[in-house]
Amino acid sequence: MRTLIRGGTVLSSTGAATADVLVDGETIAAVAAPGVFTEADTVLDATGRYVLPGGIDAHTHMEMPFGGTFSADTFETGTRAAAWGGTTTIIDFAVQAKGTSLLSTLDKWHEKAEGDCAIDYGFHMIVSDVNDGTLKEMESCVDSGVSSFKMFMAYPGVFYSTDGEILRAMHKATETGATIMMHAENGIAIDQLVARALAEGKGEPVQHGLTRPPELEGEATSRAITLAKVTGAPLYIVHLSAAQALAAVAQARDEGQNVFAETCPQYLYLSIEDLAKPDFEGAKYVASPPLREKHHQADLWRGLRTNDLSVVSTDHCPFCFKDQKELGRGDFSKIPNGMPGVEHRMDLLHQGVVAGEISLARWVEACSTTPARMFGLYPRKGVLAPGSDADIVIYDPAAEQTLSAATHHMAVDYSAYEGMTITGKVDTVLSRGRVVVDGGEYHGSAGHGRFLSRDLCQYLG
Ligand code: URP
Ligand code: ZN
Ligand code: ZN
Repeated sequence: MRTLIRGGTVLSSTGAATADVLVDGETIAAVAAPGVFTEADTVLDATGRYVLPGGIDAHTHMEMPFGGTFSADTFETGTRAAAWGGTTTIIDFAVQAKGTSLLSTLDKWHEKAEGDCAIDYGFHMIVSDVNDGTLKEMESCVDSGVSSFKMFMAYPGVFYSTDGEILRAMHKATETGATIMMHAENGIAIDQLVARALAEGKGEPVQHGLTRPPELEGEATSRAITLAKVTGAPLYIVHLSAAQALAAVAQARDEGQNVFAETCPQYLYLSIEDLAKPDFEGAKYVASPPLREKHHQADLWRGLRTNDLSVVSTDHCPFCFKDQKELGRGDFSKIPNGMPGVEHRMDLLHQGVVAGEISLARWVEACSTTPARMFGLYPRKGVLAPGSDADIVIYDPAAEQTLSAATHHMAVDYSAYEGMTITGKVDTVLSRGRVVVDGGEYHGSAGHGRFLSRDLCQYLG
């Protein structure tokens, strides 16, 4: 089965070219000058549109246990929504509960995802119980294609690891070549600020932001970088939101340390003003780190341009406003942390191109090519080249759309971007050669997506 994508502008992390793309079965057979190939079983006309590698969202949480509930998207609904938005690979997080093993956790997450995903998927492992057994199991995880481990400097008593535990895991990462991903907020200090606010009767959602100041993200980021320097471990800072944290990352990178970072669309577009919306509406925007004051946004866009922020992921972790966010009415500390977004990352970052914040090449790089390299999937993913998986997006840069819960495909009852107008829209999506979205219709199916066994980070010398 050969598919020819004809007449489009083919985008890569280095630029754009007018070219045709020939797909044979599940992979790309050729990217050639227009008209070189004429024969195919199916011809897709991409005239006036971009043809780019499918998006890779390296940070999602489907069916994640959190705060006594589970994030609302299953692997089935979440990967379907991802496909609608031009994302053809997710890397989700298996979550080690305290007292359990990493390998049993991994088995559990394979059971959850297998047969349910519309697009290809991989796993990172959340380590919340560091001990001799866990450290040994990190080796088996790497051998099983799970080469990155998230640790938390936040959430004492739940996911939190001490500096000593982080140091031990980092030593194991150095030994195995694995990457340590860090949720960098000083959770010990934050818990005191939270207790103080609640004791003063301040329970509304905006307090979530006020009790997690950007300085405590900057401090934790610097500390994580120092621990990584001492141990030699590659470090990837997840969901970076604050200028202080970005400055620490930029300095480490200038000094040649293997430190990388991602940010998320919510930190580029939303702010603490959303958290302050009245009538508990702010609960929709409760995620950690919290939304910041608006002035951080310009720093984050700059960080994306300079590559101090290498990746844009969503941290998609949706909780319905009704019944789930409601758990924290009157006590912000009980609002499940997380926001929806897996469907809109490609569009929101294309809006950054429209606004002149980033180039087209940088859009592709931050949303597809770099995540592929960062997490050991390149060149199978992240590029349109012969032999690569035919994960392809045909994108109309001139179409207009308005984001809304009434039209999105995520299993959550609100949109964090309700009413926002975007220039650009996904037309067609191929996942391993199969058309899964086309012309406003979904043609994918649960179980098409396969588990991706990943190599180590491909940026290490
Ligand atoms: O608030 C967030 N970010 N929820 C998801 C879990 C995490 O820390 O990434
Ligand atoms: Zn986190
Ligand atoms: Zn997350």
